[in-house]
Amino acid sequence: MSRRKQIYEGKAKILFEGPEPGTLVQYFKDDATAFNAQKKATLDGKGILNNRISEFVMLRLGEIGIPTHFIKRLNMREQLIKEVEIIPLEVICRNIAAGTMSKRLGIEEGEKLPRSIVEFCLKRDDLGDPLIAEEHIHAFGWATHAELDEMIAMTLRINDYLQGMFAGIGIKLVDFKIEFGRLANEDGGHQVILADEISPDSCRLWDAETDRKLDKDRFRRDLGGVTEAYTEVASRLGILKENQNKHAPNLSVVSNDD
Ligand code: CDP
Repeated sequence: MSRRKQIYEGKAKILFEGPEPGTLVQYFKDDATAFNAQKKATLDGKGILNNRISEFVMLRLGEIGIPTHFIKRLNMREQLIKEVEIIPLEVICRNIAAGTMSKRLGIEEGEKLPRSIVEFCLKRDDLGDPLIAEEHIHAFGWATHAELDEMIAMTLRINDYLQGMFAGIGIKLVDFKIEFGRLANEDGGHQVILADEISPDSCRLWDAETDRKLDKDRFRRDLGGVTEAYTEVASRLGILKENQNKHAPNLSVVSNDD
């Protein structure tokens, strides 16, 4: 790790300078945080699982035409990504009420929403990532109208695809958070692409039959078995070669470095 220049250290990931200009290396740590980092722990193997799960999801989304920052996995904990200027928004998409939406609006956790809902939070840890309206985004210039339209369209498409993908392995996609970045073009313009990660750290995933939580809520709510739940998700996706799951006999991922 020390061979590369560190660009940024977040709560669960570190970004290093990449081997070529315009690239970065994204390193997945085992650290888990919740409630704006008031709660912290190290979960053995979480980084390895999230590296693999996020790779799998980004590749599938790339196949349906969503532009992503993912280039290739480098090793157990690192992936090569395109360098982008992160848009300072957390885009949340919800299908079933949970977490802050349940608290804020008094909707019982688990209630199916009338339709998928997209929300925005400002990426500001010091303020606890406050919920904001589109009006704020426009007024403060955090994204242009065109960028916001693209982000919303991509988010709904990602939601449609991922709901189906997870349904196929017996998992409900309750909600998820994604981030987008601006990728510079040669002509001086830019393209908005999916960045960051998509993993059980950033999604709520419930077993379709039992509603058992297979995501970071196991950590947030002290339910135990966090790594086991992430392993279950990876296994059902067919990512773990050993222990292929009965839910995903045809979803085996081609792996060439381990
Ligand atoms: O997770 P929490 O209850 O604090 O907030 P939420 O607004 O209910 O979270 C909605 C979804 O976004 C969940 O899947 C969270 O895991 C995810 N999220 C995230 O990945 N990072 C954040 N800073 C906030 C939410």
